[in-house]
Amino acid sequence: MAKMMPHTHIIGTGSSIPKRILSNKDLEGIVDTTDEWIIQRTGIKERRISVKGERESTTDLTTQASVKAIEMASISPKSLDMIVVGTVTGDRMFPSTACMVQEALNAENAMAFDVSAGCTGFLYALSMADNAIQCGTCKNALVVGVDRLSSVVNWQDRGTCVLLADGAGAVVVTSATEQGGILSTHLKSDGKLWELLYSSDGNNHIPKILQGIDIKPFHLRMDGNRLFKRAVGYLSSIANEALEHNSLTIKDIGLLVPHQANIRIIKAVSKNLYIPMERVYTNIHRYGNTSSASIPIALDEANRENMLSKGDHVLFVSFGAGLTWGASIVRWSI
Ligand code: UT7
Repeated sequence: MAKMMPHTHIIGTGSSIPKRILSNKDLEGIVDTTDEWIIQRTGIKERRISVKGERESTTDLTTQASVKAIEMASISPKSLDMIVVGTVTGDRMFPSTACMVQEALNAENAMAFDVSAGCTGFLYALSMADNAIQCGTCKNALVVGVDRLSSVVNWQDRGTCVLLADGAGAVVVTSATEQGGILSTHLKSDGKLWELLYSSDGNNHIPKILQGIDIKPFHLRMDGNRLFKRAVGYLSSIANEALEHNSLTIKDIGLLVPHQANIRIIKAVSKNLYIPMERVYTNIHRYGNTSSASIPIALDEANRENMLSKGDHVLFVSFGAGLTWGASIVRWSI
């Protein structure tokens, strides 16, 4: 008899954000910008910035988000056999954030590694765990998206420093015979476009009101305008690819959870896909762009706000440095 392929179900979500709020007004004192410009062009009102010594390192944020997801999943960390973390801002070059978190969680039976795929890191990580579960090599996995882009921001570049912020989101996935869970994940990259968003040597300038933040010796550089146009096209086409693959239409999607890079990008994608904004989760006004963390933070909030019911279809779409982009459809199991 043919062996039934297991399905990957999300059974727990969690998130963690730093306490320190950086408002648009605060940014007016750092670069030549205005609250009005930032809100109109991006939708961001405030964002969270991690502070050294506050248990807000990449490892700390990841651990806190993971503990919440594991609690919701009602499993022991010892039953995790895989930890995959999507990040580009781990605390160390090596070992991976995943290994640091494995220690913090006492998840001694897991194999642990990081995935570097820019803001699409969470979807890449989710796909790795899903594949391992479908192959039967993994039963329970912890999948995290975390970034502290404040550590690589050029605080003299008004085109980027107003956008980027810190946070972590996590899910626990498990293998089950029941239909549903992750229906498919579609991932793409185009290395020819790496220069639209990359890191280069930085000058470590820290604004007065941000003394105490943890800065790395390189900066993020972005061609925001060109990236914006690519983002809208790629997000829309990959979302349609995922829908077609599963013989679904946009009417079947209960909630779209997009990467939170810019409210104008999100609105343009919602228009292209013909999904009303009431069915699109946004929290960019509160957190800015948290890179790999934005989708799992939004998912955790939507879940805890009871916006998802068992059987609902949730569509994730993301894009970021690489370029990378992707989409995934999940039939909600909790
Ligand atoms: O997570 C994935 C990676 N990130 C993204 O996907 C971001 C994608 N891009 C964007 O979100 C938008 O391109 C930005 C928000 C970055 C910029 O918005 P825009 O509408 O594309 O503005 P722009 O770059 O065309 O700049 C328009 C003007 C320029 O001034 P001039 O040349 O017209 O005089 C900029 O210098 O706005 C100026 N500007 C600002 N003004 C006030 C740029 N940043 C700021 C600022 N405050 N913070």
